[in-house]
Amino acid sequence: MDLTQKILDLKKEKNAIILAHNYQRPEVQDIADYVGDSIELSRKAMQEKNAKLIVFAAVDFMAESAAILNPDKKVLLPCIGARCPMAQMLTVDEIIRAKTLYPNAPVVLYVNTLASSKASCDICCTSANAVQVVGSLKADTVIFGPDRNLGEYVAEKTGKKIIPVPEWGFCPTHLLFQPEEVKSLKIQHPDATVMVHPECSSEMRKVADFIGSTSKMCKYAQESNAKTFIVGTEEGIMHRLKKENPDKEFIIAYDGAICPNMKIITLDRIYSSLKEEKHVVNIPEPIAKKARVSLERMFEVKS
Ligand code: 13P
Ligand code: SF4
Repeated sequence: MDLTQKILDLKKEKNAIILAHNYQRPEVQDIADYVGDSIELSRKAMQEKNAKLIVFAAVDFMAESAAILNPDKKVLLPCIGARCPMAQMLTVDEIIRAKTLYPNAPVVLYVNTLASSKASCDICCTSANAVQVVGSLKADTVIFGPDRNLGEYVAEKTGKKIIPVPEWGFCPTHLLFQPEEVKSLKIQHPDATVMVHPECSSEMRKVADFIGSTSKMCKYAQESNAKTFIVGTEEGIMHRLKKENPDKEFIIAYDGAICPNMKIITLDRIYSSLKEEKHVVNIPEPIAKKARVSLERMFEVKS
């Protein structure tokens, strides 16, 4: 029996669901019950009433959010090596230091953070709702982290002052995109629409026609009249874009833009994860309780 069928059988037997991020390998996306961006995956995990077991094909902070929001379910991360380096860039000490310097500034943290950081902030956001979350706050100065680029984008859009924590948090994969390469692709494809993730540099944002989260890019590509798109985010999204829009052309802005942390999840690891029910995401309840409040506040903001 092939691996895909073995996973599907085990999934049924164990009453499990597989949630996969838009950056996952094509074969992992194809086997998943749902593919989405970070906020959609968290929502899906919360809305799931029947499944007792959630296999989270993504990186650590996404599986942690699902576990925080679903204390009654078992959330599995198929490989403990699937860790987002950006989430590791922010420590609780740094948050405390920023709070001491700006005592009246609320702390808004990107979900790409560890649970302990989420527990120390006022509200979370994702790239899909960061502008709305910061815009919903009364304060004119906001402590924001860990992604410096997303913070700068939010400052541009809201007119608020952003205090970055840490000073220079970034995504190593999105930093690989260069505006010069987009410009030369535009010479070859003058009618192409450029879509860029807000984790890219400000120079990349300047050459973009559309800036948004991974699922917002998918939606934009479906609704747009454009036939050709230059894509400025991790290459895993190309599978979904091409699958959903067979009549349109998608060109990755840099074909080395691969997040190794996302790609560490394979069908083999999903199978072992389901079979052995590993690796269970466990967040100590005192931290989970506080982090849950920060995540739930985010869901209350209209976006
Ligand atoms: P999205 O929420 O846009 O899917 O982004 C998550 C992420 O890690 C981007 O690098
Ligand atoms: Fe983290 Fe960047 Fe990978 Fe997203 S693409 S999971 S931010 S390293």
